[in-house]
Amino acid sequence: MRIAVLHGPNLRLLGRREPDVYGSDTLEDVNARVAAEAAALGAEVEVEFFQSNHEGELLDFVEEASRRVDGFLVNPGAFTHTSVALRDAFLGVSVPFVEVHLSNTAARERFRRHSYLSDVAAGVVYGFGVRSYLLGLRGLVDRLREGRADEH
Ligand code: DQA
Repeated sequence: MRIAVLHGPNLRLLGRREPDVYGSDTLEDVNARVAAEAAALGAEVEVEFFQSNHEGELLDFVEEASRRVDGFLVNPGAFTHTSVALRDAFLGVSVPFVEVHLSNTAARERFRRHSYLSDVAAGVVYGFGVRSYLLGLRGLVDRLREGRADEH
């Protein structure tokens, strides 16, 4: 089971970006925690990571990775609130994805309350810092395992 973990714009700044909102972990720390969680979930769970500040690069990655992965774990950053194109990309490739956010977007500025992705995501986790990624990964792996069990 292969999962691509996708980080959108400005997430490379983690660690020094608004630490009161996003915590002190760097993107490398987040990825290491996700990789450890994947290993704990089972040897068959493989993860790969991608970050970009560019919408088009994220779209290209979704299209290209969709041929080899079973699911996406995605923190779309600010594109959550702006990108019809990212929504269309996920709908277009028909690979399940879970949307995650470090912060509680519902408790912040009004413009962060709307997501172009949530209603087409397999699930959404927000507000738990790095744990949002870990919980989201668990949910996605469970969902994929259930899907496989249904096939047999
Ligand atoms: C974020 C929330 C977004 O509103 C924001 O633009 C980000 C990070 C989060 O993880 O909390 O870049 O996705």
